[in-house]
Amino acid sequence: ARIEKAGHRHFMAKEIHEQPQTLSDVIAAYVDGDRIAPPVAYDFAATDRIQMVACGTAHIACQVAKYWFEQLARLPVEVDIASEYRYREGPVGAETTALFVSQSGETADTLAALRYAKGKARAVVSVVNVAESSIARDSDVAFPILAGVEIGVASTKAFVNQLGVLLALAIHAARQRGEIDAAREADLVATFRLLPGILAQALATEPRAEELAARLAEASDILFLGRGTMYPMAHEGALKLKEISYIHAEAYASGELKHGPIALVDRTLPVVVFAPMDALFEKTVSNMQEVMAREGQVLLVTDADGAAQASDGVWEVLVMPRVDPVFAPLVYAVPAQLLAYHTAVHKGTDVDQPRNLAKSVTVE
Ligand code: G6P
Repeated sequence: ARIEKAGHRHFMAKEIHEQPQTLSDVIAAYVDGDRIAPPVAYDFAATDRIQMVACGTAHIACQVAKYWFEQLARLPVEVDIASEYRYREGPVGAETTALFVSQSGETADTLAALRYAKGKARAVVSVVNVAESSIARDSDVAFPILAGVEIGVASTKAFVNQLGVLLALAIHAARQRGEIDAAREADLVATFRLLPGILAQALATEPRAEELAARLAEASDILFLGRGTMYPMAHEGALKLKEISYIHAEAYASGELKHGPIALVDRTLPVVVFAPMDALFEKTVSNMQEVMAREGQVLLVTDADGAAQASDGVWEVLVMPRVDPVFAPLVYAVPAQLLAYHTAVHKGTDVDQPRNLAKSVTVE
């Protein structure tokens, strides 16, 4: 087992560190020159909406992808949890693309949701890691995420590759639908090619994340905040932390703070804020200041520009590399993972096999 972990203490650590390589594999398979060229064809110009369905971390990847498909491709997206979608018996438009995201391709609720949509939707499309899986087999089109075998129960490299594939598809859809031109596609592709290197820079913050995690490990509750794509990323941070450190964590959209969670804020509450410098930065900072005014302990995860503007009075800052805001979710996945991982290691929990959880939930 030591060899399989390649010198890492846990499979989760090994898989976190593999991400620059596994994301490169997505780029190799989905990018050709200065355009997106997916390994299998699907025409996003012939559909009028996407219904995304998944569970767990894959569901969070869908929530991020909604921002990409809506903003880049102007394609409306609805996102559902598979266990809700399968029983709600909602209408499925004949022009809808039903899109299922699953690492294992065997999650019982996701498979049942797929079978519900099949024959009603325009097409059943999946984004899967295991190519020989039930979900891949039952789909009209299956896009591989090429993450390789993932052992850690808490998904890391599969999540980043789900994001990579969904972003590639959103750019592709934008082009097919005439929402972006070849020059804009080439720009996005050029940035995409830099991402593995930027992820490696994000991974280099690990010693700092480890230091901060030692302090998070003392907390009994932690709040995660973000806006835009950083809102689902706040969910990913909270989910990872709950799964492996057993610390209660909640995620909120920054703007929703005043509608409830602000009542929880006092000097014992760490509040992790994901806020790269982007068009929403100022808004998030003002929410962060509302937390600080109530003595909440803000851990600001931002880039050098954000740190220069908004570090005053915050408890701690974790500085990520700068990145085009479109690509920020892939980069901010790294601190979400590293903070959860090191908090769990600090607490001495079973990181690769957290209690009560299974890697793949094949029964309802
Ligand atoms: C389980 C795993 C999660 C995973 C979820 C969905 O809960 O512990 O890590 O995100 O299932 O699994 P899937 O294989 O469908 O992506």
